[in-house]
Amino acid sequence: MTSDFSYARIIGTGSYLPERRVSNQALAEQLAARGIDTSDEWIVERTGIHYRHFVDEGTSSSDLALQASRRAIEAAGLSPQDIDLIIVATSTPDMVFPSTACILQHKLGITNGCPAFDVQAVCSGFVYALTMANAMIGTGTAKRALVVGAEVFSHLLNFDDRTTCVLFGDGAGAVVLEASEEPGILASALHADGSHVGILCVPGNISGGQVQGLPLLTMDGQAVFKLAVGVLEKAARAVLDKAGLKDSDIDWLVPHQANIRIMQSTARKLKLPMEKVIVTVQDHGNTSAASIPLALDHGVRSGQIQTGQTVLLEGVGGGFTWGAVLLRM
Ligand SMILES: CC(C)(COP(=O)(O)OP(=O)(O)OC[C@H]1O[C@@H](n2cnc3c(N)ncnc32)[C@H](O)[C@@H]1OP(=O)(O)O)[C@@H](O)C(=O)NCCC(=O)NCCS
Repeated sequence: MTSDFSYARIIGTGSYLPERRVSNQALAEQLAARGIDTSDEWIVERTGIHYRHFVDEGTSSSDLALQASRRAIEAAGLSPQDIDLIIVATSTPDMVFPSTACILQHKLGITNGCPAFDVQAVCSGFVYALTMANAMIGTGTAKRALVVGAEVFSHLLNFDDRTTCVLFGDGAGAVVLEASEEPGILASALHADGSHVGILCVPGNISGGQVQGLPLLTMDGQAVFKLAVGVLEKAARAVLDKAGLKDSDIDWLVPHQANIRIMQSTARKLKLPMEKVIVTVQDHGNTSAASIPLALDHGVRSGQIQTGQTVLLEGVGGGFTWGAVLLRM
């Protein structure tokens, strides 16, 4: 397949949060029953999180991805059969294999045989997936890509560890990216440093039908915080340089929604007022690969992000991985 157009542009966004919304107060009460002490005040002050959404038993990443994808495809004015590439960023796949993207393809009723695969880059997964879809559109491998971030992080949380279990939630976000005569995606920068594997990981796997190691999230929060604020500024500068733009050309920053203090620090370094930052962490906590498309969809549907504006997406997370995508809506 060849394409006449070498750029890729977002033509639709969608997102979905599971119905069960848990406030800090409700979570604190549940944790108190296990002898774990936390409070709404502590969580809000240190993270900016007020609520997270958790799936009910039996709901998987592909179920959340399905809802977000339908909304993105509808917003794009397309039908599922128009999609010719599916990439799902997730660290909480439905199964060891096949990929959540293949399961999603089937649930969407797509029968055109389009390629479908997952990307595993934890909270940077969405910027990784978007960059790959952009490259595949640029080489004519695809014309209309569905790029999704979907997570059920509640499955990985250790509810005896108050330093992590209050931070994360479940959700999904999606975009449809279409081949275009004009950008679209202006520049991207992806990075990883595997020497930091241990600061944010789920150190378990399956072997011989048994779980080996600890299949729960563990994190050195302060180490993650310090690394994140440093690399996010560098990634932003890298994409601005590649595109020949300046800080002041950014209309909107849509950062990974992990912690309000990391977002404030990044905005300060880029001399962006917080009015130019899409912040949704208060409503859903850290949803890992889903957080950027969730925030992007919120920005678009609330009318804040407009066609023609310049938007900087930034992700950071386990690996250690980080990256940025600069785009024109
Ligand atoms: C996790 C994080 C919120 C902790 O905030 P912090 O200001 O660094 O807090 P500290 O780790 O210094 O802990 C301060 C105190 O709060 C306590 N504390 C930790 N979690 C708590 C909770 N949920 N409720 C109440 N107290 C808590 C600690 O035990 C510590 O108590 P101590 O001083 O008696 O030892 C912060 O480090 C962070 O956001 N890191 C980045 C995490 C992240 O974004 N990860 C995902 C990236 S993709």
